[in-house]
Amino acid sequence: MKNSKPLVLMTYELPENWMGDLLNQFNVIKGLPDQRGLDKNLIIHLDQVEGILCLLDDPLPGNLLKKAPKLKVVSTMAVGVDNIDVSTCTRLGIPVGHTPGVLTEGTADLTVALLLAVCRQLFTASKDARQGHWTNWDPTGWLGVDLKNSTVGIVGLGKIGTAVGERLKGFGANIIFTNRSPLPEKISSLNAKQVSLDELLKTSDFICLHTPLTEKTINLIDEKEFQIMKPSAILINAARGPVVNTSALLRALKNGQIRAAGLDVTDPEPLPPDHPLFELDNCLITPHIGSATIQTRKTMALMAIENLKAGIMGTQLPFCVNPEIYQ
Ligand code: DGY
Repeated sequence: MKNSKPLVLMTYELPENWMGDLLNQFNVIKGLPDQRGLDKNLIIHLDQVEGILCLLDDPLPGNLLKKAPKLKVVSTMAVGVDNIDVSTCTRLGIPVGHTPGVLTEGTADLTVALLLAVCRQLFTASKDARQGHWTNWDPTGWLGVDLKNSTVGIVGLGKIGTAVGERLKGFGANIIFTNRSPLPEKISSLNAKQVSLDELLKTSDFICLHTPLTEKTINLIDEKEFQIMKPSAILINAARGPVVNTSALLRALKNGQIRAAGLDVTDPEPLPPDHPLFELDNCLITPHIGSATIQTRKTMALMAIENLKAGIMGTQLPFCVNPEIYQ
């Protein structure tokens, strides 16, 4: 290798002012703009690579990571790490960095924006107005539902779920939630009640998903779960697409098992433009933009680079998913 600086593989292009001094410190090889993951351009460097900088839709399976004997760190510009084989990294002693905390508020804002847009039919109303269907003030046109006094069920009361609960409490909604473990302080700060998933699904007017994607949460919302929801329920998913079974969701929306859905994440992702979910008026889909504010995305990039640098220098990552490797 001509350059003696540590080799970093970066699966994507970032604006220059989001990259700090990355390009000065390391020999950075970037992936092809239209490819996800370690494309063939990057894979050929696996035997030399010391750091990998990736995004949430770049699959990093164990069999690839094992082919990188010099790898000192994997750093993702995301809080979710379901694309990375973290247990293999841990076994190999490779720290995995992510970007927790910084995207909490942005993602909570987007969740509430989606919820309001769906419950007040903003998308359909705006489309109809543009297409000349706004002929008079229609007393029964584009009717939505109230948030005040409604029941919002939050599935997964972590940082983002809590931030969503705080915002919706301000709209006068009653909050209930599920969580892996009992959370007494959060119950009191939100005046919210912890319930079983079944109870939450049966009683909520709005259901907001904020759980990470794990083996336990894949298809958490499937046929059976849609069957017990109210026909007036609105489902919002700003967590991970596979938490909801897409075919079951499509059926539930088409058959009126639930009223509507707002999805910032889908399975598959990206959702092909000819997917039947795009044909439904009661489904609003945005392209995984929960954290997409200028400030948040820049901070995420800088955090990911901080993690990468620490890993290559052999110091503990500031935001580490598997800190047990340091024990
Ligand atoms: C994450 O970082 O995991 C989010 O989904 C990005 O918006």
